Amino acid sequence: MAINREIGNLPVTELVKQSGLRHIAFIMDGNGRWAKKRILPREAGHKVGADNFKTIVRYCKKIGIECCTVYAFSTENIKRPQREVEALFRLLISFIEEAGEERDIEFRFIGEPGQLGETIGRRTRELEDETRGRPYRLNIAFNYGGRAEIVRAVNRLIAEGKTAVTEEDISANLYTNECPEPDLIVRTGAEMRISNFLLWQAAYAELYFTDRLWPDYTTADVDEAVRVFASRSRRFGGLDKNEPQGAGEGK
Ligand code: FPP
Repeated sequence: MAINREIGNLPVTELVKQSGLRHIAFIMDGNGRWAKKRILPREAGHKVGADNFKTIVRYCKKIGIECCTVYAFSTENIKRPQREVEALFRLLISFIEEAGEERDIEFRFIGEPGQLGETIGRRTRELEDETRGRPYRLNIAFNYGGRAEIVRAVNRLIAEGKTAVTEEDISANLYTNECPEPDLIVRTGAEMRISNFLLWQAAYAELYFTDRLWPDYTTADVDEAVRVFASRSRRFGGLDKNEPQGAGEGK
């Protein structure tokens, strides 16, 4: 996509500020293909992907983004071969063990990681408790499904005794209720779908797809996604600020 010269020349931190980019979400796809290309087991791709995930999250924090959400394990991923599932669980545990190095990140697990076993349930809760109230937020979607999240929200409201619900009620009962909605969702790995990720929250998110496989995704690629985001016109269903009234319908 063509990016105008003014946006092309501004530092990325300035673009984050000017464009109001507060929350970025990643669908980290392509670990398996990355490994296959190197004749390695899929788990090797996940290992490099997990290391890269730390680099990318730290970078997003550095350029002034307040909140990051990553899709690490969907409710459907449990259907993968046991060896791969176990490798992902081990990566999660070692990620949690190393997360103590991060001083200013509040970790939150979205989805139902506790259903994947006692150890995962306890370790994820402990990390959340230890890091509560820190300035930068990282949501890790683990055993997460977007439809299930909406159903959970509605069931919580029914349990409170509601017989009719509003959009605000549902938003307030999502796992991400303390975060702004994602402004930008990036999917790597050349697939163009949302795969049951942040379905409610994505209503007005800008979507950005790249062929880059997740283990190869770099901080320069983040800069590119931010530049594209900053060059888009977000209308939230209204009209462009500079467009004369009546010139067309905004979406
Ligand atoms: C999709 O790629 C990726 C996943 C199912 C797992 C994503 C997980 C990580 C990047 C690291 C995990 C981090 C933690 C904290 C556990 P794919 O395997 O579907 O790739 P493919 O489409 O090329 O097969």
